Amino acid sequence: MLPSSDQNEILKRRTFAIISHPDAGKTTLTEKLLLYGGAIHVAGAVKSNKIRKTATSDWMEIEKQRGISVATSVMGFDYAGHHINILDTPGHQDFAEDTFRTLTAVDSAIVVIDSAKGVETQTRRLMEVCRMRKTPVMVFMNKMDREGKDPFDLMDEAEKELGIHCTPVTWANGQGLKFESVFALDNRPAELSEKLQEDLEMIDGVYPEFDKEAYLRGDLAPVFFGSAYKTIGVQELLDFLVENAPSPLPVTAEERIVEPMEDKFTAFCFKIHANMDPNHRSCIAFFKICSGKFLRNTYYYHVRKDQQMRFAAPTCFMAQKKETVDEAFAGDVVGLPDTGNFKIGDTLTAGEKLHFKGLPSFSPEMFKYIDNADPMRQKQLEKGINQLMDEGVAQLFVSQLNGRKIIGTVGQLQFEVIQYRLEHEYQAKCRWQPLQMYKACWIESDDDAELDTFKKRKAQYMATDKEGRDVFMADSAYVLSMAQQDYKHITFHFTSEF
Ligand code: G4P
Repeated sequence: MLPSSDQNEILKRRTFAIISHPDAGKTTLTEKLLLYGGAIHVAGAVKSNKIRKTATSDWMEIEKQRGISVATSVMGFDYAGHHINILDTPGHQDFAEDTFRTLTAVDSAIVVIDSAKGVETQTRRLMEVCRMRKTPVMVFMNKMDREGKDPFDLMDEAEKELGIHCTPVTWANGQGLKFESVFALDNRPAELSEKLQEDLEMIDGVYPEFDKEAYLRGDLAPVFFGSAYKTIGVQELLDFLVENAPSPLPVTAEERIVEPMEDKFTAFCFKIHANMDPNHRSCIAFFKICSGKFLRNTYYYHVRKDQQMRFAAPTCFMAQKKETVDEAFAGDVVGLPDTGNFKIGDTLTAGEKLHFKGLPSFSPEMFKYIDNADPMRQKQLEKGINQLMDEGVAQLFVSQLNGRKIIGTVGQLQFEVIQYRLEHEYQAKCRWQPLQMYKACWIESDDDAELDTFKKRKAQYMATDKEGRDVFMADSAYVLSMAQQDYKHITFHFTSEF
C-alpha cells in the first residue's frame, strides 16, 4: 500500500467528463467550473477549443483547432481541498469514438441537457456507454433562463431516454425570463410562491431522496437545474460533485482488478494526440493512472513492447497550461511525449504484465477501400495508415478475399482527416473507393465446424482486423439478420471487446 500522504492525494481526486449533445452548453459549463477553481480568470478562455459544429466538414478549421485542443484535453484544478480533472470530449459527432474512449478513463460524468431541447441523440449514445460501464452520472439541466420544457417533463424524459432513475437535488426558482436562482432541496427557502409549493409537494411525493450508493452503482442520477451562461446552479453542482462523486475507482485488467491505492504504478493509454508541431512528428500519449504514483525519469514497463522506458518530460495539465510534472497519482492523466511507441490500449506498469480491458472498438458505420495513389510512396502510406490506426483515428480491415485494405469510420469527416494527414504528415497520397457495407462484426463460436463453414460460405465478406481477428462485413441489415438466424452457434459482436 502507498504511504498515507499519497493515499490522501488519491482520495482528493475527482476525474470526470462532461458529455452532451453539441450546443447544450458543455463548453460554457466547463468554463464556469474552471472559473470557480480559479484556473482561468476570464470567460471565453475555453471557447477556442471548440470545433465549430456548423461546419460539418470544414476539416481545415478542425486542424486549426486540434493544436489548441491539446491544452484542454485535461483540465486540472484544485477546488475545496480536492483535485479536479475534467477530461474534454470532442463535441463533433464524427469523433464520437474518441469520446467513447475518454469515457473509459473517467470515474464519473456530468450529462448536460438543454432544457429547451431535452435529451438529444448524441447524449443518448454517450449515455449508453456510461450505462455499459456503470459510470456514475449527474445531470445538469441547462439554459433554465430560456423558455423550455417543464422541469418534471424533463426529468421524465431523462429517466426514459437515458435509462436511469433521476432525483432532483436542486430546483429552479422560475424559468425563462422569470428564472432567478436555484435552491437545494434540502435547504428550502422560507418564502415560497404557490407554484413552488406545489412543485415541492410533487417532488416529495414522487422522487426518492438522493441515495449515494445507488448513484455510485450507476443506478440513480442526481439532477441539477441552472444556467451555465448566467452562472446559476453551477456552484451547487460543483460542491455536490466534490462531496459525492467517486475518487479513483478500481480498474479491471485481464489478469486482475487493480486498486488505486496499490503502491505499484499502473496506467493505460486512452488517447493519442498527434502532431502538435507540424515540423516534428511528435505525439502526446495520454495515460490514465490506475494505481500508485507516477514519477518522472523513472523506468516503467511497456507491456506490449516488453521494454523499459522512462520519461524525462511528462506533462500534466493544470488549468490550461501544459506543465512538466515530477509526480502524478492514480486518477490523474499524464501526457507522455511519444514518437510512435504507443497505441491506444497500451499498458505501463512497474514491471507486472498487465493488460487493461474495456477499450472497445465499436463497429464502424462507414467503409471505404483505401488505395495508394502514389506508387513511389507505398511504404510511407503503409506507415501512415498504421500509425493513424494506432492513434484510434479509424479502424483498418483487410479483406480475406482480395487483400484490399478497408477503412471503417463512424463519420465522413474521418476520411478527410486521414487523407489530409497522410498527405501532410507522411507525404503519401491515398484514393478512396466506395464500398457499400452495413456493419462489421466480430464473430466468435464454440462450434469450430460451424465457424469454419460460415467463413467458407461467406469468404467474400470476411476480413481481418488489426489484431488478426475475424470480422464479418455484412452488406445489409437483412444479410446480417439472416446470418444470425442461420448460424445459431455463432455470436456476432458489435464491439471488439467481449
Ligand atoms: P457545447 O459546448 O455543448 O457545444 O455548447 P456551448 O457551451 O458552446 O453553448 C452553446 C450555445 O449555448 C452558446 O451560444 C452558449 O452561449 C449558449 N448557452 C450555454 N449555456 C447557456 C445557458 O445557460 N443559457 C443560455 N441562454 N444560453 C446558453 P452561441 O450563441 O452558440 O455562442 P456564443 O456566441 O454565446 O459564444
